[in-house]
Amino acid sequence: MGTKILGVGAYLPSKVLTNYDLEKMVETSDEWITERTGIKERRIAENETVVEMALKAAEKAIEQAQIDKEEIELIILATLSPQLGFPATACLVQEALGLENNAMAFDISAACSGFLYGLDIADAYLKSQKKKTALVIGAEKLSSIIDWSDRSTCVLFGDGAGAAVVRYEPEDPSDVLSSKLYTKGKEWKILYRDLCGYLKMEGRKVFKEAVNGMTKSSLEAIKEAGLTPEDIDLVIPHQANFRIIKALAEKLNIPLEKVYVNVNRYGNTSAASIPIAMYEAIEEGKLQRGMNVLLTAMGGGLTWGSMVLRF
Ligand code: ACO
Repeated sequence: MGTKILGVGAYLPSKVLTNYDLEKMVETSDEWITERTGIKERRIAENETVVEMALKAAEKAIEQAQIDKEEIELIILATLSPQLGFPATACLVQEALGLENNAMAFDISAACSGFLYGLDIADAYLKSQKKKTALVIGAEKLSSIIDWSDRSTCVLFGDGAGAAVVRYEPEDPSDVLSSKLYTKGKEWKILYRDLCGYLKMEGRKVFKEAVNGMTKSSLEAIKEAGLTPEDIDLVIPHQANFRIIKALAEKLNIPLEKVYVNVNRYGNTSAASIPIAMYEAIEEGKLQRGMNVLLTAMGGGLTWGSMVLRF
C-alpha cells in the first residue's frame, strides 16, 4: 500500500537569458559563470506570473496522470517567490485550475528544498489516508526577487515550474521508499530575503553546506530504503551549480552518467528544479518505471534533505 507518483509536468518560460546577455548587464563573463556554476542560460518569465507557470505545469501533470482534476483533494505549492503576501499561491492555482471541490491548498516556504518537503508532506497525508490524491507544485519567479545589479547572485537563478500528481493506492507498493529532511535555522543568514527585498547569499558557505548536507542525507535515505549507492539508477539533484552536483556524485561514488543535469539550460529554479528535471528525464526516457531514484536538495533555511523513490 502506498503513494504512487501518477504524473509529472513542467513549464519553462520561452525567454532565454544567456551568459552573453548578462555580460551586457553586469561585470561578468560567460567563462566565469560556466567555470564556477556550469550555467550557460536561464529562462525569464517576462509575460508569465508564478501562478500561470504553476498552472501550466499542474495541467501537464494532471494530463499525464490521467485523472479528473476534481479528484485532487490537496494542493501543496512550494515557492520563495509567491504571487501575493497572502493568500497562498496554492489558492490562486486552485482557482486557475477551476477546481470546484474546495481541495485543501497551502504554500510551503522551504526554498530550494520545497518540492521535497511538499512531496514528503503529501506522502504523509496519503499514507495516513486523510487524503487520496494530491498535487505537489514547485513554482518560482525568481527574476522578480533578484537584484539584477548584483553579479554574485543574478547569474545563478531562473524561472519555471514543475508539478506532480500523487495518489494513495491501497493495493500497490509505495513509490516513496524513504525520506530524510532537515532544517538548520541558525544558519538562515547565509541565504535569505527581507520582506520586499532581494535574495542575499554567502555563496561559499552555502556551497559547503550543500555538498555536506546533500551527501549525508542521501546516504541516510539510501540506507533507510534498504539500498546501497550502487543500487541507485538515477540521481535527480536540485540544480544549483554543476560543481555541487559533481562533488555530490563523487562523494556518493555514483557515476555522473547516472545523474540528471539541466542546470546548464535553466540555472537554479529553486523549488521548481527537481520536478522540472523529473519531467525532462521522463520525456528523455532516462527516468523509467521500476528505477531506484534519489532526489536531493539544499536551500535557504537552511533546509535540505533526500528522498529515495522506486519510481
Ligand atoms: N562574475 C565575475 N566575477 C564574479 C561574479 C560574477 N558573476 N560573482 C562573483 N565574482 C567574483 C567575486 O567578486 C570574487 O572576486 P574577488 O576574489 O576579487 O573578491 C570572485 O569572483 C570569487 O567569488 P566567490 O563568491 O568566492 O566565488 P565562488 O567560487 O564561491 O563561486 C558561487 C560563487 C558560484 C555563488 C558559488 O559559491 C556557489 O555556487 N554557491 C552555492 C550557491 C547555491 O548553491 N545556492 C543554492 C541554494 S539557493 C536557494 O536556496 C534559493
